[in-house]
Amino acid sequence: MKIGVIGSGYVGLATALAFGKLGHEVVCGDIDEDKIAMLNDGRSPVAEPGFEETLKELTGSGKLKATIDIPALASESEVIFLCVGTPSLPDGGIDLSAIEDATQAISCSLDGQVVVVKSTVLPGTARGVVLKVLKGGSGGYTVCNNPEFLREGSALEDSLDPDRIIIGSIDGKGTEKLLELYKGFDCPKLMTDLDTAEMIKYASNIFLALKITYSNEMANLCERFGVDVYDVMTGVKLDKRIAPKYLDAGAGFGGSCFEKDLSAMIAAAKDEGYYPSLIATTLDINDAQPLRMIELLESALGSIPGKDVAVLGLAFKEDTADVRNSRAIIIVQALLGKGVNVTVHDPLAMDNFRSLCIGDLNYAGDVKDALRDKDAVIIQTNADEYVKLGPEDFKGLMRSPVVIDGRRAYEPEDMISAGITYLGIGWKNSK
Ligand SMILES: NC(=O)c1ccc[n+]([C@@H]2O[C@H](COP(=O)([O-])OP(=O)(O)OC[C@H]3O[C@@H](n4cnc5c(N)ncnc54)[C@H](O)[C@@H]3O)[C@@H](O)[C@H]2O)c1
Repeated sequence: MKIGVIGSGYVGLATALAFGKLGHEVVCGDIDEDKIAMLNDGRSPVAEPGFEETLKELTGSGKLKATIDIPALASESEVIFLCVGTPSLPDGGIDLSAIEDATQAISCSLDGQVVVVKSTVLPGTARGVVLKVLKGGSGGYTVCNNPEFLREGSALEDSLDPDRIIIGSIDGKGTEKLLELYKGFDCPKLMTDLDTAEMIKYASNIFLALKITYSNEMANLCERFGVDVYDVMTGVKLDKRIAPKYLDAGAGFGGSCFEKDLSAMIAAAKDEGYYPSLIATTLDINDAQPLRMIELLESALGSIPGKDVAVLGLAFKEDTADVRNSRAIIIVQALLGKGVNVTVHDPLAMDNFRSLCIGDLNYAGDVKDALRDKDAVIIQTNADEYVKLGPEDFKGLMRSPVVIDGRRAYEPEDMISAGITYLGIGWKNSK
């Protein structure tokens, strides 16, 4: 099948590469000329496992090409996926300008295509925005919503092996085409109307954000009772009614989706005359959580102005270069605000973090450099090279071996018995 994918970020590229790998002909579109040049050169503008290799393979075989000519992409495709960003407006509401622009760009090139919204959009968007814009154009089309559930760090793998496929349709016409496209995918497929498919994406993300926040709330309680939240969650996860993922306590969720989607839903609900307090409280708890890392640091070092502290992990999680809403931003800003000398390191996200221009930071060339002569280190992601560090690395390299761990990367007994001050969110030793 001939597939057009508009928006060549995490979701667009994962979609394009997955369908390309399955033998379809794919054209990627974007307004960013540099991204398009990179793609046609077989280089991935997004750091994700498998992207670069698959891209080289598909551009080499002519199965994938990229263009900024969105109308041409639309006219030569049978199915067009809209994968553009849907960021937050200053008031937290959803910014649909990229969806509107991309829809406008294809509106005069349609002749029977299925236009599929894969970006995360609020219920009513396909009906109220996409169809409205397309009606001003020419030709035949039908519109579907097919929300994406991939996780950064395993985007391609998730696109090829999803838990479920949701297809929302205005009139059922596009469903058949999408079922044909997804026929090799061995997972439940749920067909709904457009608004329901759009809402399923929000309901899923809100629930995942709630699960993480619930664990963090439990962690904060456990600390007060002198109990280890990781031991507690081991017991909780044995309950068959509770799926075990997204229950590890830490410094809060980051990334491009949860905060944006929860804020968008709050803003939209307010417009409908309803205040979703559970969702709002989730965001409040999440905002406060990274600052707990600073409290732990202060409890270990006493006064922190002038101290030398390393922060390991700048992306919002390991295996990605994405720094959008990373807890590291809040942690680093708080440290700088308290007069700490901050050294940072990340295996993939150094350039992206640097481009945030957060302040006067030392960027370490490697992890050992980051630890050398530091008064303390804050572990912010479970990147392989951090998890592989042992007590001897901290003791051998640091001025004082104080490790504040937001990811429970190590066994507390090993660290403490080796003479390390090892503190983390939700542990009995952190009081
Ligand atoms: N990143 C994730 O983990 C993830 C997971 C599921 C769903 N989503 C949703 O998918 C959507 C895309 O997310 P992403 O992370 O891939 O975003 P991204 O920022 O990585 O990529 C978006 C791309 O769209 C391009 N773009 C913007 N306006 C355009 C236009 N008018 N025409 C063509 N291209 C345009 C941008 O240049 C950019 O390359 C969002 O709605 C997001 O909420 C993201």
